[in-house]
Amino acid sequence: MPTPAALAGKHAPLPLPFKPSALNGISERMIGSHWENNYGGAVKNLNKTELELAKIGADTPPFVVAALRDKELAFRNSKALHEAYFGNLGGDGKRSGAIDTALGEAYGTTARWEEHFRATALGLAGGSGWVMLGYELDTGALRTVGVGNHTQSLAVGVPLLVLDMYEHAYHIDYGAAAAKYVDAFFANANWDEANQRLARAQQATAAWRAAT
Ligand SMILES: [Fe+2]
Repeated sequence: MPTPAALAGKHAPLPLPFKPSALNGISERMIGSHWENNYGGAVKNLNKTELELAKIGADTPPFVVAALRDKELAFRNSKALHEAYFGNLGGDGKRSGAIDTALGEAYGTTARWEEHFRATALGLAGGSGWVMLGYELDTGALRTVGVGNHTQSLAVGVPLLVLDMYEHAYHIDYGAAAAKYVDAFFANANWDEANQRLARAQQATAAWRAAT
């Protein structure tokens, strides 16, 4: 039985888009371990899961299919969210441009938005999950959400700024002091990248609306 192209199991990790020693308050040891073990592990497990899914046939027990589908979505989203997270680090933390303006319009002030984002992060402290500033492709709205189990996210949301709140993202450097890690995240946030993501998402929404 040929392996479907959609389940080829050949994903490879993307390199970090910055020098691992370059971050301010996030150690090379921690970001390196995060990239290699947690992100790298998700990519490897996604590949293995795809190859198992490729074997599904009419006689595969439904509970096996269901378990594989759960794992597939978790590993696929973990890969994507880690890539968005690493991709929006390595900056100088200075918010500017269209996203700054849009956040001010959506929340009254950008400080108010940051308050929401930080509160969402601390709601996940000691547990697991992601905080995502997302762009809804169908409405064009900015949404701040907590993402549980890698999977509970905006159905049509494009990640603009992503914060990993799994303990592996901060415990080596900060122990249980999650708020200090959130400070470090904002100090290293790459708002140029977030602005580029917003511009691409807005173009996609414009094309979507033009076609309907
Ligand atoms: Fe992670």
